[in-house]
Amino acid sequence: MSTNSTKNKKNNPLGLSQTIIDANQTISKIFLEVQDVAKNSSNLPAINEIINEGIKEVQATTKATENIATVNKVLNARLNELRNSTKDITDHVQVQTKGIRDFALHVDSITSRFDALRQSIMNTSKYIEALQNVHDEITLEQFRVNHLGKKGDISLELRKLGAMDPNQRKEIAPLLNGLKGDINQAISQKKQELFEKALEEQLQQEWLDVTLPGRARRQGTIHPVSQTIDQAVAIFSDMGFSYAEGPQVETDWYNFDALNIPPEHPARQEHDTFFVKSDTNEDKSPNVLRTHTSPVQIRSMTRQGVPIRIIAPGRVYRCDYDQTHTPMFHQIEGLAIDKNLNMAHLKWTLEEFCRTFFEVDNAELRFRASHFPFTEPSAEVDIRCSWEKGQLKIGEGSDWLEILGCGMVHPNVLTACGVDKTQYQGFAFGMGLDRIAMLKYGIPDLRSFFESDIRWLRHYGFLPVDVPSLHSGLSL
Ligand code: PHE
Repeated sequence: MSTNSTKNKKNNPLGLSQTIIDANQTISKIFLEVQDVAKNSSNLPAINEIINEGIKEVQATTKATENIATVNKVLNARLNELRNSTKDITDHVQVQTKGIRDFALHVDSITSRFDALRQSIMNTSKYIEALQNVHDEITLEQFRVNHLGKKGDISLELRKLGAMDPNQRKEIAPLLNGLKGDINQAISQKKQELFEKALEEQLQQEWLDVTLPGRARRQGTIHPVSQTIDQAVAIFSDMGFSYAEGPQVETDWYNFDALNIPPEHPARQEHDTFFVKSDTNEDKSPNVLRTHTSPVQIRSMTRQGVPIRIIAPGRVYRCDYDQTHTPMFHQIEGLAIDKNLNMAHLKWTLEEFCRTFFEVDNAELRFRASHFPFTEPSAEVDIRCSWEKGQLKIGEGSDWLEILGCGMVHPNVLTACGVDKTQYQGFAFGMGLDRIAMLKYGIPDLRSFFESDIRWLRHYGFLPVDVPSLHSGLSL
């Protein structure tokens, strides 16, 4: 023990006990460690103070007394103080560390959001580049829907803003909205470009040579039958006849019975009638396509009574087809009923008509006795004409052409229409309009009227402005 003690005295000029020396070393080590730990702490000055004071106190105590118990007490007190102090530091560091970690996480998340955004901006700028390959409006619209439409990627990003924390939203919202604006603008610009390009192409392709002569407009012509009807109507109107119409599908009563043609009458067979199934009643006899315009006499008389003066032009139908017959042709019916009409009136009316219509002063008519069930007496009327070198001339020569049937209205017809046959009488006539058109305009074949050959129509047709009237002359 004494050897040790002597040896220690050399290294221990103050003659401190080994325990105190060990304690000092230990405490210095601890202080160094504490200093090391606390070097980054804002508490460092306070900690240093504690340590320095501790060292001083330990030194003072060990100098003043070698009482190990006192030294230990002082040491323990300082150590406790130190421990408390370093505990504060640890807590502080821990709180700070947590804050830093949170901050780092926050930064991380922002960074990752920015990364995502950067990515999407990069993608979108790729789309904007892709926009350069859009060459038509349909693809452009598809592009808009893909990005800015309800389910477009930018719209979906914008929708996520709501769920972001406010700081993050503040950063990202303007970027996204800016981006949306940019794309919108790019689209409008593209739209304008496409429009201008299309216009440019159109202007390149379509151009107008204003020095070219104008293209004449094809004008339709009025069919000779229509023109003839208009002329006949003009002439008879001037004589005080009014215009009447009737249906083309007739009942057999109007077409036959009322006209004094009973079912067993041979005239029914002569008419080559087309029958039309009646849809109202299966038991009823079928309707007919009217075989002449005479049923309009019946309809007019029963409707408006007498006295009466009407003409009724229109289509009639008979099952017949050759150069002078077609299954459909045109007639004009005339009817005049009054108290003192006689055959002279009929004759004058027809002569006056023919003179005006054929535009010849001496249109001579020949009345041949004939028979119609609905007139008594009846006549067929021919007009004097000549054929010179295939050219037909009305009013001269030694040929006669049949143009109409006529007569004094049969009392049975008047009775069928409820007209008092003892008071009233009158005349009726039925003229083939196609026939008189053929004669007037030298058209040789009736069938050509209804073939609708545009060349024929252009040749024989009339200008629409050629409306027949007596004061301007019938044909211009
Ligand atoms: N309806 C007769 C026919 O078609 C023509 C005619 C009419 C005859 C009026 C006399 C009176 O042939």
